[in-house]
Amino acid sequence: FSLQPYNTFGVDVNAKYFIEVQTIDELKKAVLYSKDHHLSVLFLGGGSNILLTKNFDGLAIKLSLKGISEEDLSENEVLVTAKAGENWHELVLYSLEKNYGGLENLSLIPGNVGTSPMQNIGAYGTEIKDIFVSCTVLDLENLEIKIFGLEDCRFGYRDSIFKQEGKGKYVILEVSFKLTKKNHHIKTEYGAIKTELENLGITNPTIQDVSKAVINIRQSKLPDPNVIGNAGSFFKNPTIPLTQFEELKQKFENIPGYPNGDVVKVPAGWLIEQCGWKGKQIGNAASHKLQALVIVNATGNATGKEIFDFSTEIIRSVEEKFGITLEREVNII
Ligand code: EPU
Repeated sequence: FSLQPYNTFGVDVNAKYFIEVQTIDELKKAVLYSKDHHLSVLFLGGGSNILLTKNFDGLAIKLSLKGISEEDLSENEVLVTAKAGENWHELVLYSLEKNYGGLENLSLIPGNVGTSPMQNIGAYGTEIKDIFVSCTVLDLENLEIKIFGLEDCRFGYRDSIFKQEGKGKYVILEVSFKLTKKNHHIKTEYGAIKTELENLGITNPTIQDVSKAVINIRQSKLPDPNVIGNAGSFFKNPTIPLTQFEELKQKFENIPGYPNGDVVKVPAGWLIEQCGWKGKQIGNAASHKLQALVIVNATGNATGKEIFDFSTEIIRSVEEKFGITLEREVNII
């Protein structure tokens, strides 16, 4: 069964078995089946953060649980709960239509709701931890349903318990967010948003304006996975000690960095570009010409291994030039 339509890199690998589930019951049955038949399982959400490097000799389960519900919390707050299989951007559009604030900076992020807590998706000054209330998960060991609150999830930069101790142990079924109904917290501190709002001639932005600005920025430099296969940022932005950053600054005076106490986060896109990778193609894989941090399936025929090897070359050269080891953000399967 080809998984090509189920990963945004558009890599063509096969799974031995495949099933799409729409309810918790169907999901439980599929998991039980895998246990009974000693099959390893691969859960597929939106497929926007995985790189499949080889055929999968087990059961691939596509999570298509759908539905959005809401509950009033107070005059100004509403709890919106979306099932795992809802497309992320559709949820953002739903909230904007109802004039609920909180998700606007996260417009147009590829993927589904169910994977959003995994890596605490974030962009343009917001992370889901800022509006997250809880998520309901299926414990794969005993098939019990559990609830993880904000603290339980241990969110960090592109990180959560689901990528650490909880890795492979749970399937996220639905996620609840606390959104505002009228007193919205408009976040425009991120430089690119400010500039884009100025370009649009907007001085007093609404949440819909912020979303529009984010969409414009993303469309101007991030490749659309429907047109050219990719999984967004391939690496995390590395965090290095301030002392190391200061040493690098002596040698590379333009190096950008966002200090936070005694560490500095450095944009990986800049490091990769400085090593000459931006827009460079080897075989079927390339670094995107407008955002070096994004690796693309340039011809549509790249294998997962080819993309993986390409990323290894990037890691090597950044290490050599800057002494910084980039970490992959995309899940390698
Ligand atoms: N930069 C370069 N060359 C490049 C790319 C970036 O010099 O080719 C420099 C830019 O000039 C800028 C800085 O790097 O000064 C930051 O660039 P950008 O605003 O594009 O953001 P990023 O740090 O590269 C992160 C997230 C994105 C998110 C944006 C906006 C990570 C790994 N990536 O990218 O998330 O959309 O910020 O908030 O943190 C994703 O996770 O898939 C993703 C796209």
